[in-house]
Amino acid sequence: PSQWKMLRQELLKYLECFLMAVISGGHISAPPNRTEAMWEDFLTCLRKQDLILSTALEAQVAKTDASRPLVLVLDDNFYYQSMRYEVYQLARKYSLGFCQLFLDCPLETCLQRNSQRPQALPNETIYLMERRLEKPNPEKNAWEHNSLIIQSPACSLEASLEVTDLLLTSLDNPVKYVEDNMEQKETDRIICSTNILHKADQTLRRTVSETMKEAKDEQILPSDLKRLAEELNKLKAEFLEDIRQGNKKYLCFQQTINISDVLSSFCNEKDNIVQKYFSKQQ
Ligand SMILES: *[C@@H]1O[C@H](CO)[C@@H](O)[C@H](O)[C@H]1NC(C)=O
Ligand SMILES: *[C@@H]1O[C@H](CO)[C@@H](O)[C@H](O)[C@H]1NC(C)=O
Ligand SMILES: *[C@@H]1O[C@H](CO)[C@@H](O)[C@H](O)[C@H]1NC(C)=O
Repeated sequence: PSQWKMLRQELLKYLECFLMAVISGGHISAPPNRTEAMWEDFLTCLRKQDLILSTALEAQVAKTDASRPLVLVLDDNFYYQSMRYEVYQLARKYSLGFCQLFLDCPLETCLQRNSQRPQALPNETIYLMERRLEKPNPEKNAWEHNSLIIQSPACSLEASLEVTDLLLTSLDNPVKYVEDNMEQKETDRIICSTNILHKADQTLRRTVSETMKEAKDEQILPSDLKRLAEELNKLKAEFLEDIRQGNKKYLCFQQTINISDVLSSFCNEKDNIVQKYFSKQQ
């Protein structure tokens, strides 16, 4: 599974190379770190669909214009919402349209169709996919609002008109680069708390190491030094856990976490611990 994930990420990078070439109207250039055979396959696919015109050495992207808009269909299971979100992020980065077409199909139909394939997958795989699949949920995820769910095996004219409509709507409404949606805020929050955590970790680590230096200067016994270090590191870990989980054993903060508040609260606790060792010494 981890290799599969890596290959998916690599393919997304290739897609980005192609998008950049389309936008600049120039040549497609290979990403620095690529699996050569896979990159060649990718170019071959583009060539077969007349998306690039190439000589042996270079590949020029075919011209597109408003009368012939370029629609890329990423045909995969994309069973986790997070897999689809990566594609959405790419669309947002380049201000492109994004939409999702979900073919909703009863499990029994999937099993039957699968068994008729020349190289059928084990039924277990189909069951697994059914369990894992996270359907588009436009009510919960604002970024999924351009989603169309078609009941398969229906294959009507009406469905095909709906698909055309979906494509035109997304072409006319590219994803805005800065979009004020909950998803983005959630991502920002995670990044922000990761930064805070990193900063707090550095600050507390420095405090612990300074305190240990002072303790050594006070000629505290080696066995006590060892226990002091253990206690301080445990305290540090608990503070970081407070920030991470909001357990609030020590910290009592509202919306934002202020590093200097964290530090002063940490120093109070630390002084209580250090007191025991220093007074023992005297
Ligand atoms: C290059 O690819 C290798 C193997 O796929 C990977 O381990 C490494 O992290 C990649 N380096 C960069 C800079 O992407
Ligand atoms: C897989 O499922 C199909 C449809 O339910 C069934 O006909 C077939 O016998 C199953 N195959 C196995 C190996 O169980
Ligand atoms: C953190 O709190 C201290 C004192 O409570 C204050 O002086 C400082 O400006 C605050 N810093 C931030 C980034 O809010």
